[in-house]
Amino acid sequence: MSAVIIGSGASVPERVVTNHDLAQIMDTTDEWIVKRSGVRERRFAPVGVGSSDLAAAAVGAAIADAGLLPADIDAVVCATMTPDQFAPGIAPQVQQKAGLGAIAAYDLRQQCSGFLYGLDLAASLIESGRNEHVVVVGAEVHRGYLPFAEGWDILAGDTSVELSEQTRTAIDESRGWAVLFGDGAAAVVVSRHDDPDVGFGPRRLHTDGTWVHLIEVKGVGFRNQPWVDEAQLQARLHWPSMSGAELFRQASVLMPEAVAEVVAEAKLTVGDLDLVIAHQANARIVEAARKRLGVAESVVPMNIDRWGNTTAATLPLLWDDLAREGKIPEGATIAFTAFGSGVHWGALLYRHP
Ligand SMILES: CC(C)(COP(=O)(O)OP(=O)(O)OC[C@H]1O[C@@H](n2cnc3c(N)ncnc32)[C@H](O)[C@@H]1OP(=O)(O)O)[C@@H](O)C(=O)NCCC(=O)NCCS
Repeated sequence: MSAVIIGSGASVPERVVTNHDLAQIMDTTDEWIVKRSGVRERRFAPVGVGSSDLAAAAVGAAIADAGLLPADIDAVVCATMTPDQFAPGIAPQVQQKAGLGAIAAYDLRQQCSGFLYGLDLAASLIESGRNEHVVVVGAEVHRGYLPFAEGWDILAGDTSVELSEQTRTAIDESRGWAVLFGDGAAAVVVSRHDDPDVGFGPRRLHTDGTWVHLIEVKGVGFRNQPWVDEAQLQARLHWPSMSGAELFRQASVLMPEAVAEVVAEAKLTVGDLDLVIAHQANARIVEAARKRLGVAESVVPMNIDRWGNTTAATLPLLWDDLAREGKIPEGATIAFTAFGSGVHWGALLYRHP
């Protein structure tokens, strides 16, 4: 028995924000963003739309693509860094909004590695014989922590709005990370398969909490008394803080190392890989990881130019884009890999039926 991907679907907001749009509200240029990150545009969800809405739509699309009905799904695994509310996570809302039965609904908190951890969980639930069809979804709405204030009106095309000095300063101070992120969701259906020679093979997940400070949102949390207050907001503890250069260095090394681990465990070589589906945090990280692995550009596709870094949604969005374009051949040997806040990272090896 094995676990294979039988369908996928995505849900991205309609609103496109290009680098040129961002340059209207902050001190940046399209050239800087493209050169340093590979992002050309990203999507932002409207106010009132949460990760659970995008996730539920993606789950529905993936179930339809798999030729199943919501009633066929045994479990749903939801990965997000940006839940609709502090508690509970989005899993109960996704279960209800996607019209699933009263099934097990898991919330994972592994940020950029959330979907990778979700795939491992889904495959394990199936291989153990416990479940037949499991949906894994990655979904993010980062819009909420971007300090654009009245800048949102400018991005929406309102030329009469002028940024206050305070907003301008806040936006400029966020530019090192705010230009990277976008909103979106995508899901896959993982199902039982009779052929043991296909599906998920070796899998390695890693964590090193020594590096938790590299990228984190320090406030708002229950270590504080009270858990949220004006002082924390003034200190911008609700913003992500990020050591970009160190993250860059670690991601470029640890993703290819994890891929090499699972490939070796399967007694293959990296030359046997048809595709590496890598977390899309920065095109330069993906490129550095590719070079370290020593595989051709065509083996490590990217779509960060269209979506930005959608955190837990990057792996399934890339899978779904490739599936729509007919670029996941039958029998392909594929490595999934991700690295992100925690830090969590790893790789899974997969052979498509
Ligand atoms: C964030 C990141 C794109 C920054 O790229 P970088 O080449 O390291 O750039 P730096 O942070 O060194 O900044 C270089 C200069 O550009 C400036 N800059 C930062 N953001 C800018 C922007 N949006 N537009 C224009 N200039 C910008 C900086 O102020 C700095 O100016 P200085 O040299 O005068 O001080 C890069 O480090 C990265 O992608 N890291 C990984 C992030 C990541 O993976 N995050 C998610 C974790 S999964």
